[in-house]
Amino acid sequence: MVAAGALISGAGTNLQAIIDRIAAGRLDCALRVVVCNRPRAAGLLRAAAAGIPTRVIDHRAFGTRGDFERAVVEVLREAGVELVVLAGFDRLVTRMLLEAFPQRVINIHPGLLPAFKGLHAQRDALEYGVKLAGATVHLVDEETDHGPIIVQGAVAVRPDDTEETLRDRILAVEHEIYPAAIQLFAEGRVEVRGRRVVVRGEPPGTASSLIGW
Ligand code: GRF
Repeated sequence: MVAAGALISGAGTNLQAIIDRIAAGRLDCALRVVVCNRPRAAGLLRAAAAGIPTRVIDHRAFGTRGDFERAVVEVLREAGVELVVLAGFDRLVTRMLLEAFPQRVINIHPGLLPAFKGLHAQRDALEYGVKLAGATVHLVDEETDHGPIIVQGAVAVRPDDTEETLRDRILAVEHEIYPAAIQLFAEGRVEVRGRRVVVRGEPPGTASSLIGW
């Protein structure tokens, strides 16, 4: 079992996937709190509907990034969080959060890192002409979209794909691999060796060949 806190900014479909997996009894995770920096984010409603405590911490109310993050860390600590799950959180994180939760801050990115970092990974992949796209769950470090990779899932790019259709297929992969990655932490199977994350034990029989850890 792992006690997690999610940081969100938007729609919260990854949050929903995690909530659903917990409700189905397939993820040994207690979501203690959902922190959101945007008061009108739809993800807040998803958390509330699932009975998860929510906290809005609007970054615009703080003078510096550090002050904002200090407030976030305080809420996460108060809630007894062990694992910090960034799920569509649109602020860069700093050393303050990373030092409060060493090697326990994870993120999901809609691209096969290290390709296509940044905010437009799906569009960039399409424009580049890659044949495989996908998503990455990684540990967060001080560089954007850079920390050690925990799980990746790939989808084939279709000739008629638009940014939207590709985004949707990648999202479906995200919703599989993010709960799966959290479960690895719940089972204490994640070992970080420099840049490489070694997952102890066997991958589950259901893992498709397009999902790697
Ligand atoms: C996802 O594509 C995720 O990979 C990226 O932000 C998006 C969040 O979507 N980091 P949602 O809020 O989980 O629906």
